[in-house]
Amino acid sequence: MSLFVVTGTDTGIGKTVFAAGLAGAIGGYYWKPIQAGVDPEGDSETVARLSGLPARRILPEAYRLSTPASPHLAARIDGVEIRLDRLALPAVDGPLVVEGAGGVLVPVSGTMLMADLFAHWSKPVILCARTGLGTINHSLLSIEALRARGVPIAGIAFIGDPHAENERIIPALGRVANLGRLPHLRALDPASLATAFAAGIKLPAI
Ligand SMILES: Nc1ncnc2c1ncn2[C@@H]1O[C@H](COP(=O)(O)OP(=O)(O)OP(=O)(O)O)[C@@H](O)[C@H]1O
Ligand SMILES: [Mg+2]
Repeated sequence: MSLFVVTGTDTGIGKTVFAAGLAGAIGGYYWKPIQAGVDPEGDSETVARLSGLPARRILPEAYRLSTPASPHLAARIDGVEIRLDRLALPAVDGPLVVEGAGGVLVPVSGTMLMADLFAHWSKPVILCARTGLGTINHSLLSIEALRARGVPIAGIAFIGDPHAENERIIPALGRVANLGRLPHLRALDPASLATAFAAGIKLPAI
């Protein structure tokens, strides 16, 4: 079964839009294990809106926390303990796209970072990165943090306006596959996302 974990160099980088495009392209399931902040909507609702997938393909979150903050803090505010046994990858009858929270060194709890959870799952991770200024540092740091924990990296996917040099140097120095680029879309709807995703992103072979 194909399984992709989607992470990013930062929060708000476009992971959910990318994950919606990916889940739609592979006709898969989508799972956001830890959602911190649900106003105006959580990532599952965004994916339901943008992927074109039927509602049953969007799996319920393991944790749906009210505060838009690092999961460890959002959980503390809601009086919830985030436990590894509730974060087991769901068994589904098709490809699965899992979206992390924030970036790779975001704390899931007081003792576990997002990258530790990825290492525990040991499934290929796609790193979403901006194309613009600052992305070389954020991307290479994220790749190092994943490698240091032995997390398999399926590749890097860029999001935003084209930047030929950043899109060349990061995969070269980071020694990761370049999965392409999803442009910034003026109209975000299932049809335009599917078209842009198919045109810009090469799916990694798993
Ligand atoms: N390719 C794109 N075209 C147009 N808008 C985009 C694109 N990617 C992301 N956005 C917009 O940027 C914002 C952040 O995107 P998104 O929610 O996908 O980020 P994220 O990395 O999933 O954030 P979080 O860390 O909260 O999960 C959203 O308003 C989204 O609509
Ligand atoms: Mg998201």
